[in-house]
This record gives sequence, C-alpha cells and structure tokens, in this order.
Amino acid sequence: MRLVFFGAPGVGKGTQAKRLAAQERIPQVSTGEILRESVTQGTALGLQAKGFMESGKLVPDDVVIGLAREKLASRECSHGYILDGFPRTVAQAEALDRTFQEMGRPGLDHVVSFDVPSDQIIKRLSGRRSCPTCQTVYHVDHDQPKLEGRCDKCGGALVQRVDDKPETVESRLKVFDQQTSPLVEYYQKRGLLRRVDSTGDINEVYRRLLKVLGLAGV
Ligand code: AP5
Ligand code: MG
Repeated sequence: MRLVFFGAPGVGKGTQAKRLAAQERIPQVSTGEILRESVTQGTALGLQAKGFMESGKLVPDDVVIGLAREKLASRECSHGYILDGFPRTVAQAEALDRTFQEMGRPGLDHVVSFDVPSDQIIKRLSGRRSCPTCQTVYHVDHDQPKLEGRCDKCGGALVQRVDDKPETVESRLKVFDQQTSPLVEYYQKRGLLRRVDSTGDINEVYRRLLKVLGLAGV
C-alpha cells in the first residue's frame, strides 16, 4: 500500500502513521522526523534545515524532494510506505509524480487527509511531548507515558518540540493554509483524496482510517 498522510500540523498524522505502519509492516517515511534527526546530529542537511524548522517555515523544496527520492528508492520502500508530511507543496507533489515515472514505480493508492478544527489542533500541539532519541510522541492528557516524563520505548527524557511554541505553531498553521492546502485540490482531481474525520480519541480515528482504506484491524 502506497500512502500519503496529509493534514495540518498536529492533526495526528505521525500518531496514526506509526500505528498503521506497524500493522501493515510498511515503513513510515516522515520528512519531519528525518529532518529533526539530522538537526540533532548536526549533519549538513540538519544545518540547512534548522532555521526554517525552528521558525515554522517549510524547508526548501529541492532539499526535501532529494530526501524523499532517496528514501523511495531504498529497498525498505519497495513494498509500500506511508509518506508522512510529504508532499507539502504543489512543486513537491509534481516532483513525486515525476519520481514514480522515472523509477518506473506505481503511483500512490490513497492520499489520506486528516481533518481537525484548529482549536483542537492547538490543544494537541501544546500538550505534545516527544522523545528526542526515538521520536515517539506522547500527549500530556491523551497519550501519557507509563512513567511521567520518560519514553516507554527507550527511557529517554521527553521534551517539548521547539516548533510547538505558540508563536511558531501560528506560523506553521499559516504556512499550511497558504502552501500546503492547495494539495487537496491537486489530489482530489486525481481521484486519490480520502478524508478522515480526526476529531475524537486516537482509537476512534484509527478505526475510521482503517475503514477508509478498506482494512481490518488487528
Ligand atoms: P513535521 O514533523 O511533519 O510536522 P507537522 O506537519 O507540523 O506535523 P506534526 O508532526 O507537528 O503533527 P502530526 O500531525 O504528526 O501530529 P502528532 O501525531 O504528532 O514537520 C516539522 C517541520 O519540518 C516543518 O515545519 C518543516 O519545517 C519541516 N518539513 C517537514 N516536512 C517537510 C516538507 N515536506 N517540506 C518542507 N518542509 C518540511 O500528534 C500531535 C499531538 O496530538 C501528540 O501529542 C499526540 O499524542 C496527540 N494526538 C494525536 N491524535 C490525537 C487524538 N485523536 N486525540 C487527542 N490527541 C491526539
Ligand atoms: Mg508528525
């Protein structure tokens, strides 16, 4: 299954992608996670991306397109994948279509748009805590770790992402409206867009996601 998970910052793309990726045994390719890891490691890519990410802007298209192409060409993506947070501009979507043609690979099966009103998005982002080591995501109210402040998976100390500060969240939401939301029309025209009402708890959203994709739960 070849999927794109699409939606505003904080709708729950990463949370749902992790779960579906584990169930279907396909990789979750999150450009945001790859970029954050690169920033932490101080690689050339990380140094290029850091300023954009911290101010809530998009990293330039050519950088992210190169990254996504490299991942898609890898063996782990040969039997399907979930692209989480890519594409995010029309230029990225067009580059993705060209990549499929050049690689002789089949195109996307579904583009899943997760929809949540913006007041709920702000609550989700302000309460998010993340593990900088393994990138597992929690929420102070809805998805708590077993031991407060510690990651269940690796024991790392949980932190708030730098781009989850209120002023940066505002800028990310604006960027989404201006640069990313035109993709709804792009994928609607191609008959690929599936909408998932993402209000309600994580399990409820997951059930709706499986239904939209015609999958059974485990
Ligand atoms: P990225 O990491 O992709 O961030 P984002 O799109 O802003 O989305 P988030 O990861 O913040 O939210 P999410 O939808 O994954 O929500 P989550 O599951 O964590 O990108 C970061 C930055 O990298 C960008 O700003 C940009 O600079 C750069 N970048 C990345 N990709 C790029 C690209 N393609 N082009 C250019 N630049 C790019 O959930 C949020 C919280 O809500 C969690 O605490 C979770 O526990 C909780 N939650 C989830 N579901 C529910 C629910 N149903 N009910 C209650 N709480 C819930
Ligand atoms: Mg995410």
